[in-house]
Amino acid sequence: MPASSQNPHGGPGDYSAVGSDPDTARELYFSTKFLLYSIDAWEHDRDQRFDLTALTDSFHQSVPVLDFLDWKITAIERGYAQTLLPLNPNASNQYIAHQGALMLLVAEYTGGIALASLLHLVPIIGFMPSVDDNAAYMWGAKAAIRWYAPSCHNLTCKARIDKPRWEGLAKRFTNSRKLVATIPVKMFNGDELVAEVDFTYWVQDVVSMKRHAFDPERIDLLYKHKTKTTAKLIVGLRALEQERSVTERRFDDPYAFMLAGKQGITLARRFSMGTPQLQHLVAARTQHLDRGVAEFAREQARFNIVNIGAGYDSRFWRLKFEGATIYDLDLPVMLNERRRIFDYTRDRQIHNLEIDLETQAIDAVLSASGRFNPNVPTYFIWEGGSMYFGDRHIDRIFSAVARIMAPGSRFWFDYVSEAIIAGTTGIREAEDFIDAMQKLGEPFVTGFSDIGPLARRYHLEIKEDVSAGSVLGIREAIYSHYGFFVLGRS
Ligand SMILES: C[S@@+](CC[C@H](N)C(=O)[O-])C[C@H]1O[C@@H](n2cnc3c(N)ncnc32)[C@H](O)[C@@H]1O
Repeated sequence: MPASSQNPHGGPGDYSAVGSDPDTARELYFSTKFLLYSIDAWEHDRDQRFDLTALTDSFHQSVPVLDFLDWKITAIERGYAQTLLPLNPNASNQYIAHQGALMLLVAEYTGGIALASLLHLVPIIGFMPSVDDNAAYMWGAKAAIRWYAPSCHNLTCKARIDKPRWEGLAKRFTNSRKLVATIPVKMFNGDELVAEVDFTYWVQDVVSMKRHAFDPERIDLLYKHKTKTTAKLIVGLRALEQERSVTERRFDDPYAFMLAGKQGITLARRFSMGTPQLQHLVAARTQHLDRGVAEFAREQARFNIVNIGAGYDSRFWRLKFEGATIYDLDLPVMLNERRRIFDYTRDRQIHNLEIDLETQAIDAVLSASGRFNPNVPTYFIWEGGSMYFGDRHIDRIFSAVARIMAPGSRFWFDYVSEAIIAGTTGIREAEDFIDAMQKLGEPFVTGFSDIGPLARRYHLEIKEDVSAGSVLGIREAIYSHYGFFVLGRS
């Protein structure tokens, strides 16, 4: 993968959206050696990725125990990282020394930063915001620690990667291959060496992780984890609604808690700490769409529902519509999850269709199913999707939907404003959320201020455009930056 340094937000496309489509991003082909040894390249990289205070803050947010310990990053150079674990009440054990496992914890992050410093400008998911697939996933694979003496003073943790290793490690990553590297980390009280760790990491770029995304047998285990994350977050937010009293609930999703599981609930709670409005925004979308489908269903005898990117949505298990044939579209890994969770022998109306929206057209997949009837009206749903896709993929989805919209069909989708993507709302909670999504490696890339040109391009008409604020009856500014479109045939 070439080192790229595109403008994160790109420019407006030929319809009114801002977004950076990875396919059109500008790529710069510098040699790996040049990037590793050029002072200018390093200064640029240091400036972009390694502001010590900002990066320490980011680690504190992502791994709150590091904040509790008052751990700090104190120096970063190419191939080198130094951090400090102070001896304080939170970090010490019953002997007033550092707890051994805490030393391993800080060694993990110190070695990881040293390794990251070799991957020029590449954001590390979880800690550095990414705006496209030019990002790396880094996990611990193995570690061995040797303690030589009790650590009874501030602990300086140093990870140094020898220069002769730099190019090989960086090239392996750049060539989109799984990089497994052991980094030595030494820990000192002043000059005294108190422990040594060999920490082995596993690093891979997102593009290469995606390579087998469509094959449940070969899909990368960690990509599988990553793919489920946003769907887990959303169902986690739906699950929180169940904590309200029955009379206060804006919708009732008895499946959500089990679908979200511990991971989804924890994700939802963490995201809600920075952006408490999130749960209300998801409640508005659930309410609006539940109502929209119900109204549509009342007017039809027979119809299709096509749910694009179904994730952990349980709508058609909790709401039943006579005469509906439902198609849940998603990547195989997600559909397998759905098959594992729901008892499909109880519902013959619902069909799972595997799709990769980045490479396949919805109409082709529906017609290949041999079941889809294009002559009856269809309610298309793209819930929690438009913000993650660039212009080219949006075009593929809209053209496919437009091709098979029988008269009376509707296309519902949710969207964020252009200002949300551009980071110009001036609303701290909105900006924190966008930042958190970028760190999660699931950046929002597309927003709309005017859907008119997009709708006209596919000969569609806007039947409804409503903000989350109007659905909820709330005037606070953040709720005007998220809304719901319903399109129909012109
Ligand atoms: C944010 S989740 C929303 C899920 C669901 N609509 C909801 O509101 O709960 C996005 C969904 O899109 C799916 N998705 C993402 N990229 C995809 C792709 N290339 N092809 C098919 N589905 C994809 C994910 O697997 C995930 O289930």
